[in-house]
Amino acid sequence: MKVITQIKALREYLNSIRKNDKSIGFVPTMGALHEGHLTLVRQSVKENLFTVCSIFVNPTQFNDPADLKKYPRTLQKDCEMLEEAGCDLVFAPDTSEVYPSEATISLTFGYLEEILEGKFRPGHFQGVGLVVSKLLHMVQPDRAYFGQKDYQQFLIIQTLVKDLNFPVKLIRVPIIREKDGLAMSSRNMRLSEEERAAAPVFFEALNAAAEVLKRDKNVNGARALAGRLIEEKNGVSLEYFEIAHPDTLKPLSNETVGDEVVLCVAGYVGNIRLIDNLIVNI
Ligand code: PAJ
Repeated sequence: MKVITQIKALREYLNSIRKNDKSIGFVPTMGALHEGHLTLVRQSVKENLFTVCSIFVNPTQFNDPADLKKYPRTLQKDCEMLEEAGCDLVFAPDTSEVYPSEATISLTFGYLEEILEGKFRPGHFQGVGLVVSKLLHMVQPDRAYFGQKDYQQFLIIQTLVKDLNFPVKLIRVPIIREKDGLAMSSRNMRLSEEERAAAPVFFEALNAAAEVLKRDKNVNGARALAGRLIEEKNGVSLEYFEIAHPDTLKPLSNETVGDEVVLCVAGYVGNIRLIDNLIVNI
């Protein structure tokens, strides 16, 4: 497995891969890899002749500087895991390589960046849009893999690719969970034992709400039940629980609910912020 840190070297290397007509799959990450990330990598390895994974903690998507500073950096271990998953090339640039100067351009996504994660993390999706644009230009993959874990991020990137005609096929990979249902996340390693035991409440609330929806299409009832389950859990607080249209993320009511919905939740366990979601066919 090749490890490259410079854009120029990356381009030269990938040009030679393309000359041999090899399809390129790309998995962008911020490192601190776990089984969720590796599932994306394995799928890319299956579907492409060459797989690139980027590891870059992108400063422009952090609205809290303390969060950026605390973000785990485990490059050595990440590379070992990637090699084992069959990755061919790791691109791990420095901040100055990706942002030699502050970017002047900014991407906005309208309604999609104003709600849910966008509302609680202002500027976050502009930063994601910027770095994913840069990375797609650097790697020029045939396919790019993103997790359903970050459902809203996937819709943002779909918008980016459509509006700016990026020649790439986006693949959404289902959420990988721990045995007790907790969605895998690099933040989980920061939970204390007690917090870790409480954290599956988000997935439990998603499932409880899904049951209410399937039983009697009661959106308001489902939302209220989920909110109650989360708020009642010691040490856990709810930021939002929304039942929304899967394509637009517009919130639904008993009157507007259709056959497919997405349930999105965010909250804190102690001072660790977690998100989760569930697609439900009613
Ligand atoms: P990061 O949080 O490192 O996640 C990288 C990719 O792994 C994302 O597409 C995310 O949705 C996916 N992923 C994380 N946990 C997952 C899980 N439990 N199951 C399935 N997929 C999972 O998302 C980012 O980085 C950044 O915003 C990035 C796109 C790299 C831009 O900086």
